[in-house]
Amino acid sequence: MALTRLDKLIADSGVASRSEAKALIRSGRVTVNGRVPRLAEEKYASETAVICIDGEQISCSKNRYIMLHKPGGILSATEDSKQETVIDLLSPQLQRQGLFPVGRLDKDTTGLLLLTNDGDFAHRVISPKKRVPKLYRAAVDGVLDEADVQAFSEGLTLGDGTQCMPAQLRILRPSVGLVTVFEGKYHQVKRMFASRGKHVTALHRQRIGALNLDEELRPGDYRELTEAEIAAVFASEDICENDGNEK
Ligand code: URA
Repeated sequence: MALTRLDKLIADSGVASRSEAKALIRSGRVTVNGRVPRLAEEKYASETAVICIDGEQISCSKNRYIMLHKPGGILSATEDSKQETVIDLLSPQLQRQGLFPVGRLDKDTTGLLLLTNDGDFAHRVISPKKRVPKLYRAAVDGVLDEADVQAFSEGLTLGDGTQCMPAQLRILRPSVGLVTVFEGKYHQVKRMFASRGKHVTALHRQRIGALNLDEELRPGDYRELTEAEIAAVFASEDICENDGNEK
């Protein structure tokens, strides 16, 4: 097992910066395995050390998994010289964690966005080979019909000739549909509707795998995923058929 300096372990947990962690250790507010450490340089294994601050155990796992309710008007990027990004919505502690968005939502798209610093996790969510379904609610400026449903299910060809994998469309109202895609091409859902002559006027992601956007989260709010929710991302059924009684 790799050993890591105590101040770094605390900083990696996101509760404090490296210098704040050193100060916490110096002031005797930190215990490791029930004992007050003398130095910030002491090394421990993140897997086994029980680290407490003021008696509260902190999580030393370096991997973070955040669910964000992305508001419209914010970029899905880690930084931008002019515009606000989803990382700017996070607390200063989380901004130090090397988080990045798992795939991108367009600036005007709202809904479920995952943020992590776990590259393997992100790859598994995004890779078309893993077939993790993403469920969107789309409002369009035309009337949806059975020919659209059929075309989505057969795999659409976009305006530039790009071939899409078969997707699912369920019509909720004449101009509102639920779309499930298993890949994440650039502006994919908007371009799929455009290939059917329909312009998307609003797009909201509701679900990734079997993980729903928490309805308690208002736009701009976020929270950590539980272990069960991380697993749910990869535990999906046919989510268009099981769409949470969407009306
Ligand atoms: N498809 C789009 O067109 N835009 C998004 O933001 C996500 C999927």
